[in-house]
Amino acid sequence: MSGQRVCVSDFEEEARKVLPKAVYDYYRSGADQQVTLAANVAAFNRWYLVPRVLRDVSTVDLSVSVLGQKLSMPVCVAATAMQRMAHPEGETATARACGAAGTGMMLSSWATSTIEEVMAAMTASLGSGVLWLQLYIYKDRELTLSLVRRAEATGYRAVFVTVDTPYLGRRFDDMRNRFKLPQHLSMSNFSTASLAFSEGNYGNDSGLAVYVANAIDPTLCWDDITWLKKHTRLPVIVKGVLNGEDAAQAVSYGVDGILVSNHGARQLDGVPATLDVLEDVVRAVQGRCDVYMDGGVRRGTDILKALALGAKAVFIGRPVLWGLACQGEQGVTEVLELIKEELRLAMALSGCRSVSEVSRSLVRRVEFTSRM
Ligand SMILES: Cc1cc2nc3c(=O)[nH]c(=O)nc-3n(C[C@H](O)[C@H](O)[C@H](O)COP(=O)(O)O)c2cc1C
Repeated sequence: MSGQRVCVSDFEEEARKVLPKAVYDYYRSGADQQVTLAANVAAFNRWYLVPRVLRDVSTVDLSVSVLGQKLSMPVCVAATAMQRMAHPEGETATARACGAAGTGMMLSSWATSTIEEVMAAMTASLGSGVLWLQLYIYKDRELTLSLVRRAEATGYRAVFVTVDTPYLGRRFDDMRNRFKLPQHLSMSNFSTASLAFSEGNYGNDSGLAVYVANAIDPTLCWDDITWLKKHTRLPVIVKGVLNGEDAAQAVSYGVDGILVSNHGARQLDGVPATLDVLEDVVRAVQGRCDVYMDGGVRRGTDILKALALGAKAVFIGRPVLWGLACQGEQGVTEVLELIKEELRLAMALSGCRSVSEVSRSLVRRVEFTSRM
């Protein structure tokens, strides 16, 4: 571990210096006024940890089972698009780091590496990691299913279908920068230039917003979950649920998991921090499927709080991009190690020797009293 990088924000600071402005802006931004972007991070500060003592914490077991796979820690990597803008090896570097760390990586439909390349990288790591496919449902359903079939054929273990993006959120920086991929890159899983986001007439707008309006299916509804499940033998997890009623509906449609997510605050601004709705979802689901969360997770104590509020595991998006930008595979490895060590220490100092010992009683909401 490099001497100076002691927390995730150190990686972000360094990444900001090395990345082209439009790339850093794309990775960092939230939608609109970015109210939710700040809320995602701030929400963790509204919960105290109430530790237990005298419990022999000389060994702490961080392992957890996610979608039938044993992982080294309850922290996985969320889908983030176009990782080769951060580093020439992009998603393949992230996959090697996840493989070596023994955790899961969700590959974006909008990756700048192919489904097959990323699996080859994960396999080459000789570790015990796992790959899942994040799926956007395109207007062209055959094209959509071809991604799923390729993931099945290469050994991906689940499909996370993103349900919060019928249109792209308004991201001011991307609009001002007229964001598009650098010329040497493309969304590698698509064969035509327009679907690969390597060519197109995007006018004065964020190129990605135009791409989504052209290609992604805004008619998506619950029956499409049934459709997807009919076409794959892989577990299906819905990514982007914030409402308890939707969570209950997802269960009734037979999903294998729910990822409580607001897309890293990049879609609808003004929605709650994911931590603030996690318990609603957990309550609605009543143990009928696993509940995961992402959004604003930056520290070991954040993870512990999310687990205490009922998440089976958490996902991290931006921190991985910062690691990748700083130092490729090694940078991602450092971020994963840092977060793992922070979680191990937080669990030990809380008296939790395993993830199963993390319970609701470990957290208490901070009460604000007015001084007026
Ligand atoms: C730069 C960037 C690209 C993203 N790309 C995708 C994507 O392609 N598909 C998707 O479902 N979510 C995408 N997300 C959302 C992440 O999967 C995840 O929900 C979010 O990043 C979690 O919040 P965090 O970045 O605060 O950890 C993206 C997020 C970021 C920051």
